[in-house]
Amino acid sequence: MTTPTVTITDNITGKTSECPVLVPTYGPRVIDTKDLYKDLGMFTHDPGFMTTSACRSSITYLDGDEGKLFHRGYPIEQLAEHSSYLEVCYLLLYGELPTRTQFEEFEYQVKFRSNVHERVNHMYSGYMYDAHPMSIMVGVMGALSSYYHEALDLKDPVDRDLTAKRVIAKMPTLAAQCYKYAIGHPFVYPNNSLGYVENFLNMMFSHPMSTYIPDPVAVRALEVMLILHADHEQNASTSTVRLAGSAGANPFACIAAGMVTLWGPAHGGANEAVLHMLNEIKTPENIPKFIARAKDKNDTFRLMGFGHRVYKNFDPRSRVIRKVCHDLLGHMPANVNTRLFDTAMTLEEIAVKDEYFIERKLYPNVDFYSGIILKALGIPESMFTVMFGLGRAVGWIAQWLEMMQDPDFRIGRPRQLYVGSRQRDYVPIEQRG
Ligand code: ACO
Repeated sequence: MTTPTVTITDNITGKTSECPVLVPTYGPRVIDTKDLYKDLGMFTHDPGFMTTSACRSSITYLDGDEGKLFHRGYPIEQLAEHSSYLEVCYLLLYGELPTRTQFEEFEYQVKFRSNVHERVNHMYSGYMYDAHPMSIMVGVMGALSSYYHEALDLKDPVDRDLTAKRVIAKMPTLAAQCYKYAIGHPFVYPNNSLGYVENFLNMMFSHPMSTYIPDPVAVRALEVMLILHADHEQNASTSTVRLAGSAGANPFACIAAGMVTLWGPAHGGANEAVLHMLNEIKTPENIPKFIARAKDKNDTFRLMGFGHRVYKNFDPRSRVIRKVCHDLLGHMPANVNTRLFDTAMTLEEIAVKDEYFIERKLYPNVDFYSGIILKALGIPESMFTVMFGLGRAVGWIAQWLEMMQDPDFRIGRPRQLYVGSRQRDYVPIEQRG
């Protein structure tokens, strides 16, 4: 069968370029433009990568128009209902669901590596007492590159696999340490007799003076939240990890670079913004006032946690997380946050019935519910993006592994449309007007 092509003609010179058309499993066909410069002396221009595919990937597929999200072909709804976070990690890394023996071996390999070098624990004291946890996460994750650099051969698949397990293993320990440092509590070491999520909650909330018993409903809520955040194909932070990795950089430093990108409010900061908004609304009685502001074109206020750039139908993750959120709130005893949760649930109820939101397909997104879940679990708002990163770490490292094995792998080097000055001659300072 001949490869389909698209012919691009330069109407000025009359030259043409025959570009192969690549056919994906799902999604739009892709024009391969890599010979365009050779054939026509031209680049393509696409700020924000709105229509540019930068790699071949077989990890995640999402369709924003249809509201679909698959990991290795499995719908996210099925993974969230039946799987565990560690099993999803295995799936993302190796492409298949594990057998029981494979899973047990993988779980052992991850747990075995959950501790961090004691010297890492000393790094925290260099941070301001009120440093944002993301600034600390970026630093301590980057610091792991100093522990695993000389002995790490990026060309060796065994070393790369070990790196992936180390990243997944150490993320919860570092995340919990950031929290403990902020509140001035002693660090809690990982406990390998606990499951991945229980161990994280234990490192967050246990204390030398008392025993902490994680609530199974809370554990499941966090487990589902991590599964829903595990990967989202070539988003900004993942693309950052790939770009840094394409230069052959140390993978722990690449993950730190991904973390930097995630920290941006346009990416990982929305769940925190939801809580700020709910605190501002204060009580359910104030909701109509804020809905009116969200609709007012002269007001910059938007309902945080509503709408999505890619999902214009619905975000498939929202349906799953909505149920988890409602179950969790129904299960929790009334506490100081009850009013905040009432406000959130009333806001959801009012907004989904409002014509303005219906017409524009503005549904509550995954961040709306994840922010509420994290709050209900007792995790402070400043830690919300760290929690997103905890889930996403596997996506970053799985995409890095895929890139390192790709035969087309080469350093990422975008081109540009230069619009600056033409060549001119240097003028000595005393002659400049
Ligand atoms: N509240 C009120 N109105 C909104 C909202 C909102 N949250 N989101 C969009 N609109 C309106 C816009 O004013 C616009 O109205 P118009 O057609 O009358 O001018 C229309 O809906 C379309 O909005 P756009 O800005 O074109 O949509 P876009 O795709 O660019 O924005 C975005 C998507 C950024 C997510 C937006 O919906 C938003 O700001 N939401 C709030 C922030 C948020 O929750 N972000 C998290 C996204 S999920 C994630 O990152 C995992």
